[in-house]
Amino acid sequence: MLENHIHLKASDNNSPVTLTPDSIGIGPEIHELIAWLNRNITAIQKDLSSLGAILFRGFNIITRDDFREIAEKVDEKQMTYVDGNSPRSKLKSNTYTSTEFPADQFITLHSELSYSNLWPLRMMFCCIVSAMKGGATPISDNAVLLEKLPKEIVEEFEAKGLCYIRNLHSGYGLGPSWQKTFETDIKSEVEDFCKRTDSHYMWVEEDSVRIKQYRPAIRTHPISGQRLWFNQADQFHISNFNADLQAAYEALYEGDSMSRPQHVTYGDHSEIDPSYFTEIRKLIDEIMLPVSWISGDLVYIDNMRMMHGREPFEGDRTVLLTMFK
Ligand SMILES: [Fe+2]
Repeated sequence: MLENHIHLKASDNNSPVTLTPDSIGIGPEIHELIAWLNRNITAIQKDLSSLGAILFRGFNIITRDDFREIAEKVDEKQMTYVDGNSPRSKLKSNTYTSTEFPADQFITLHSELSYSNLWPLRMMFCCIVSAMKGGATPISDNAVLLEKLPKEIVEEFEAKGLCYIRNLHSGYGLGPSWQKTFETDIKSEVEDFCKRTDSHYMWVEEDSVRIKQYRPAIRTHPISGQRLWFNQADQFHISNFNADLQAAYEALYEGDSMSRPQHVTYGDHSEIDPSYFTEIRKLIDEIMLPVSWISGDLVYIDNMRMMHGREPFEGDRTVLLTMFK
């Protein structure tokens, strides 16, 4: 239980639980927040597995170093973004920019690295500069999604599992390069990583690599024991693009879906009915709630319980990310 008899409960105003200096009885300086988090970390992480996300607001988190200090001192199990598929920059330590995807595009909701078998259990997002307009981080509950999805979709995904396919170039091409993805220029390090993580690799056309990862669509949370929808199939599928982009990809790859930068099939390599993705996206839209950023906000999120995305924005926006095992 948290000190001062605080019980974290899901808020009823359709937003994540929000903690402020007043609500937890401490001052706004980051050393006070770090000390409070450390005193309560076990209870917070347990609550997080059922609440999904906690927003800390009103603390004096001003710089990137402020955030890095909190992330380093509160949750020691930091991890890298090796095997990631989103464009982002690594800053010091294991702090990353949240994404460098073009500002005018919506990033669909997803469970970070769910196609890998080294995914973060928890993540911290921190807003250093909030956008002039837009730029919220929508989140949605994987337990609710699993409950609401039609039975036939859940059963087919669960029975067959998924095969995620990525084609990574060596510097020029669509999507990220293998060097950026694996944070190395050395091919043998890519191969070692793949062997360690049950990922199949094949070097093609001299210097590109095709990665195949066979993963379940549903996983059980290690703390709550809850079954959760935990996959990124809808984001890997071509139907995630708008009609113009889909047509461009079809023309470029001449119907050879295995050569696209990303593709997903069932684990037996059969294609997934695109109408299933329409249903999945419709439900995510229904249940998602946007976290609108104020500079200095920190969100501690359970990556297995909650998906996240990004709304388009205008102006500067700096949101940082650290992931934890
Ligand atoms: Fe993400």
